[in-house]
Parts: sequence; C-alpha cells; structure tokens
Amino acid sequence: MNQPVVLQQMKSKLNGKDFLQISDFTKDELMDLIEFGIKLKNMQKLGEPHRYLEGKTLAMIFEKSSTRTRVSFETGMYQLGGMAQFLNKDDIQMGNGETVADTAKVLSRFVDAIMIRTYGHDIVVELAENATVPVINGLTDDAHPCQVMADLMTIYEKKGSFNGLKLTFVGDGNNMSQSLLMGCAIMGIDCYIAVPKGNEIKKGIFQMAKEKAKLSGAKIVQTYDAQEAVKAADIIYTDVWASMGWEGDLQARLAEFADYQVSEELVNGAKDDYLFMHCLPAKRGEEVAAAVIDGENSVVFDQAENRLHVQKAILATLV
Ligand code: CP
Ligand code: NVA
Repeated sequence: MNQPVVLQQMKSKLNGKDFLQISDFTKDELMDLIEFGIKLKNMQKLGEPHRYLEGKTLAMIFEKSSTRTRVSFETGMYQLGGMAQFLNKDDIQMGNGETVADTAKVLSRFVDAIMIRTYGHDIVVELAENATVPVINGLTDDAHPCQVMADLMTIYEKKGSFNGLKLTFVGDGNNMSQSLLMGCAIMGIDCYIAVPKGNEIKKGIFQMAKEKAKLSGAKIVQTYDAQEAVKAADIIYTDVWASMGWEGDLQARLAEFADYQVSEELVNGAKDDYLFMHCLPAKRGEEVAAAVIDGENSVVFDQAENRLHVQKAILATLV
C-alpha cells in the first residue's frame, strides 16, 4: 500500500535501524515517531487502512512475562498488514543453549524484524549485532525504550508540548526510570528522580542523560527526598519496587522503599493538574496508593494504549 510522505521521510533516515535504547535517537527522530504514532492512532480510530507492512513478520522472543508488550506488538503487526510470532524462550532452542548469535542469524532468514524481552542488555546488543533485520528492545534489566515512547506520546497529547514541564519519578532506579530519564533529557523535560539510597540510576546512564540534557536544556536531578522532588511537578511517575528478576528481594525492598510510596499525601505537593503515570503492571498499596492510580489525574491506561500506536510507528519506520 502507498506510504504517506511523512513515513517515506522517516524511512529514509531510520529504515533498517535497531531500536535498542532511547539514547540512540535524536530529539527530532523521537518527535517524528511520536507524531506518526498520533497519526496512526487517528487512522485506527477512523477505520482508515494503514497496511504498511503487508506480508511482513515479526518474531517476538520473551524471556520474561508480559501483557502489554506482547499484545500491543502482536496487534500492531496485524493492523499494519503483517503478523507476529510469539516465541517463549523455553519453547525455542535458545532455551536449550543455542547461542544468541545463531538465533539471530536463523531468525533473520525468516522474519523482517525481531523484538526481544530479556534480562541483560548485552543479550539485546548481541542479537542486534548478529541479526540482519531490525531488532527492537521490548525491555531489559537496563532499559524499556518502547514504554518511554508511549509515555512521551501520552505527555505530548495531554500537555500539548514538552516545554516547561517537570516530571518526577519516585521509586527504583531501574530499567523504567533509566529510560524515562533519558527520554526527558533528550526531549527537554526537567526530570527529578527520587530513590532510596542504594537504588540510584546507573552512573553511566545518569552521566549520559546529563550530556543529552545540555543539548535540550532539561534540568536533571537525582535525590533521596521524594517530598522535595514532587514539588510543583507536572507529572509524577512510579514503577514496581521489585522488577522482574528481583521478586526474591521483595520483603527487604518493601521496608527499604516504604517512604517512597506515591501516596495521596505525596501528590499534594504536585501541581493541581499533574498527571499520574505508571508503566504497569502496578502493585496498589506498594509503590502507589489505590486512590492515586485510580484517581482522576491518572493516565495509566492511556499510556498502555499508546504502546500500540507508537510501536506501530516504530515498526512501520524500521521494517
Ligand atoms: N509496561 C509493560 O511493558 O507491560 P508488560 O510487562 O505487560 O508488557
Ligand atoms: N520495572 C518493571 C517494568 C515492567 C514493565 C520490570 O522490569 O519488571
């Protein structure tokens, strides 16, 4: 099917590229993907055909569980005219010891793109180095770039621009907060990260975000003081205290993170029209109070929906 000019222009720059981390892209490239995600969302709502990936296939490797990532990628490929294959690590030979490199080379002979959710970020990098088709990071221990794209799209839709915004993340210095920090730093959103001692953002990632922020003018702050960090915030974001792979530490972490719950009291410090955001899945009563996530400032289901639209923009551009 004919591709719109905006897609042809994005393809001329990004076609064939991997989507491994937010920091691999410029502000303009991310903005183009967000705008195209919004366009695809409108087309979908209006029932306008946009089968830009007719006959194309996506292999999706999962080493961790998922609701949003799996269903949004699978549905997205279908809506673009292609199809996706769900590959649980235990069902494919990678689970029996076939190397990441061999898996990448074999899958590249069959499919047009690979999405992977795994533990070490080095696995995604190795897969991308050995694949001849684009590789998309569907979450690693260090990064969750597709989620941040949906989050930025949601902020842009709700606030109309990224200018003059302050986002505060309260909780763990994990894959989510690291990618979010990077996304804010690139797009020019002031970003405050409030974590308990010992759970900071990885030093190298924080440093890189600082560098990106010099270009965009964003203010980047990491602190242990959640109350201070949420003052006058436009957006408050949190995520689980024990990410996938860390569940064994939950009891200790519940105590460690107790003062970092996004409670009704904490959000009082934010602007009246603040947005509450969470990548989901959420644990009510742990990182967030039910009254906050289920309250009128919460946009968590808009974020979840936008995974579909912005990932369709990414797929249509890279593949
Ligand atoms: N936010 C997110 O990635 O959700 P899933 O773990 O359900 O994919
Ligand atoms: N930090 C969470 C995000 C889940 C989408 C995890 O890695 O489990």
